[in-house]
Amino acid sequence: MAVLRSTIVLAFYGFLLFFFPLTVHSAHHKKHTSTDYKVTFNPQLPPRSFAASKRYEGSSDLVNLRYHMGPVLSSPINIYLIWYGKWAASQQLLIKDFLLSISTTNHRAAPSPSVSEWWRTVSLYTDQTGANISRSVLIAGEYSDTKYSLGTHLTRLSIQQVIASAVKSKPFPVDHKNGIYLVLTSVDVTVQDFCRAVCGFHYFTFPSMVGYTLPYAWVGNSGKQCPEVCAYPFAIPSYMSGGGAKPFTPPNGDVGVDGMISVIAHELAELSSNPLVNAWYAGEDPTAPTEIGDLCEGLYGTGGGGGYIGQVTRDGGGRSYNMNGRRRRKFLVQWIWSPILKACAGPNAID
Ligand SMILES: *[C@@H]1O[C@H](CO)[C@@H](O)[C@H](O)[C@H]1NC(C)=O
Repeated sequence: MAVLRSTIVLAFYGFLLFFFPLTVHSAHHKKHTSTDYKVTFNPQLPPRSFAASKRYEGSSDLVNLRYHMGPVLSSPINIYLIWYGKWAASQQLLIKDFLLSISTTNHRAAPSPSVSEWWRTVSLYTDQTGANISRSVLIAGEYSDTKYSLGTHLTRLSIQQVIASAVKSKPFPVDHKNGIYLVLTSVDVTVQDFCRAVCGFHYFTFPSMVGYTLPYAWVGNSGKQCPEVCAYPFAIPSYMSGGGAKPFTPPNGDVGVDGMISVIAHELAELSSNPLVNAWYAGEDPTAPTEIGDLCEGLYGTGGGGGYIGQVTRDGGGRSYNMNGRRRRKFLVQWIWSPILKACAGPNAID
């Protein structure tokens, strides 16, 4: 459902115990990135609890992901972006480059491992008619609320008011059929439960608030408020740096926004496979579903799990990433649970 803080704390625990890389593989040459090499973090961490093993070990016996007969986003997906607060144009461009990297239709294919290959795992989910989640994802509209019209603190309900104001404005339509609404709050906006419990969440709007039932997600920029929680591993808590650990260098030089991108990816994958919270999730409690992103939270490469991010690439400038996007962008994005493999999967998997 949401990127939860408890999981990240668990990740810290694992990181503390086994921080140091065990091996550094020799250069893995590719034409376009001849200075890249693989950094391996592949320790064995005994699961702390059943919950930990369920979340990370990827055993299909423990993960009871089921389809609950509701819709998935099988039509081409139109994203309506709502920028709440003050955003730099460069930050907006970075997030839009990530979103536009999902489809292969609107740009030259990025080299493998790519964002569109990552979305391939999401597109394996189907509805009861057998229709897959769409691989076409567009930005259909943008709305900026630079005046913080609902203040610098938002609640879960006032986020719906932000969407209501946006859909009342022209030319920002109510798109019942293909639309999803993504509210992104700037670094100076606090949000109910942000940092303490969540880094982002998705749900659907109430007709009484917005006039319609529209699937939406919110993700906040944690850059100043709690990067060590919501932009991990680009920031780490002080107790870890005391032990000699260093944060990863973000691929685009922006701790808050590079950290947001994996949270946005997580929420989009879940919004697409569970838009009305009655389609794909594990667990018996629909008010606290475990969804296809939750199952792989904190896992970015082969050998990850139990608090380890897995094998990712570090470029010549020390920046860490695991997938390529449009316009030569690089991103570090968590893996997604595959309904075929019954395990977490990502385009940078090493077999
Ligand atoms: C649709 O999903 C099914 C079941 O996961 C998968 O086997 C198939 O390859 C998918 N089709 C497309 C076009 O992605």
